[in-house]
Amino acid sequence: MRVVILGSGTGSNAEAILQAQRDGALAAAEVVQIIADKPDAGILAHGETFGVPAQYLDPAPFKTKLEGVGEDLYIDTITALRADLIVLAGFMRVIKPKFIRTFAGKIINLHPSLLPSFPGLDGIGQAWRRGVKVSGCTVHYVTAEVDGGPIIDQATVRIAPDDTLVTFAEKMHAAEHELLPAVIARLSERY
Ligand code: GRF
Repeated sequence: MRVVILGSGTGSNAEAILQAQRDGALAAAEVVQIIADKPDAGILAHGETFGVPAQYLDPAPFKTKLEGVGEDLYIDTITALRADLIVLAGFMRVIKPKFIRTFAGKIINLHPSLLPSFPGLDGIGQAWRRGVKVSGCTVHYVTAEVDGGPIIDQATVRIAPDDTLVTFAEKMHAAEHELLPAVIARLSERY
């Protein structure tokens, strides 16, 4: 199963996926490309570390969504890569219907909350401010509804009385780094 990872940030989840692949824990999944919509995104460096091609792809003309010329560039590039699975790992851009239709059923997203609670930006901060005692992360299929597609799996994180936003966020990221590679491995086995 050929996997393409899309991200915008530090790429700690991409790193976890690539480490799982190196450890032989990604079953039949193989990461073939990392794509970032920011030229200086940390996620690109993980490609070099793990020997996987990584590239910046210009998402213009829009700032917060992938549509128009940029969307076509992403569609053409990912089609040429013959991707079986597209993993959104911190890709901070709304994916639009043309992209979703082109890769129907092949796009998954990682979200830092127990959906359907706290969709949208800053799922960690939203949960923290609401004072929930249990939160967690979700991997779901991407549909036209932002953070609304079918849930594939979730992992819970308990917020202890002595947690701070910083320690809570650390627990959340640790949970993400377990969950996302495990889901990819499972999907590859079914593939
Ligand atoms: C993660 O918290 C993920 O849930 C959210 O964006 C963050 C990406 O982190 N969608 P990283 O770039 O993988 O470190």
